[in-house]
Amino acid sequence: FNTNVQFFIAAYLVGGIPFGLLLAKKFAGVDIKASGSGSIGATNVLRVVKETNPSLAKKLGAATLALDAFKGILVLAVAYFTGLSEATLWGIAVLAVIGHCFSPYLGLEGGKGIATGMGVMMFMLPYETIIALIVWAVGAKTIRISSISSLTGVAALLISSFFIHPDMAHAPVVFIVFILYYKHIPNIIRLFKGEEKRVV
Ligand code: G3P
Repeated sequence: FNTNVQFFIAAYLVGGIPFGLLLAKKFAGVDIKASGSGSIGATNVLRVVKETNPSLAKKLGAATLALDAFKGILVLAVAYFTGLSEATLWGIAVLAVIGHCFSPYLGLEGGKGIATGMGVMMFMLPYETIIALIVWAVGAKTIRISSISSLTGVAALLISSFFIHPDMAHAPVVFIVFILYYKHIPNIIRLFKGEEKRVV
């Protein structure tokens, strides 16, 4: 196998590790796939664990966010120091997000890709990611609906990439953003119906 293919497989397998599901099961004894939004990310860990243990929920939510972001960064960092090309790094970034959203360990179900997507983008496009995180944080503080802040942050990342890096190949960014929006279709439907749950 050539090195690129090995890294693509590793990115998918590592990206697929469902940290939220594992942490919530181990430390709170709950199945987050069966509660709340059914998603395996930090938002749903926070939402579901909070019902029984608010202080533990914050810790587990933060740990899920950090680990889901870190798993993509980890594979990218190893690939970067191996000297792989920019195009390969983008392939790894895409596959880590696909791994999280369509996990090989969960019958191709998974999370919504915000934390893992932000992690890989922090590595690939740090300035755009800082803008996205600011938009996300403002949304999270004011509107308090996780999906709205996530989706506006993601949109800000894509739009800002056209200004900050007008000459780069935007296809991988567009593709990652597409996956993230695709995974949020149930949230978008709930938002239009006025049924989307606030996290706090
Ligand atoms: O980051 C995920 C968030 O945007 C939505 O999560 O659990 O509310 O569907 P959830």
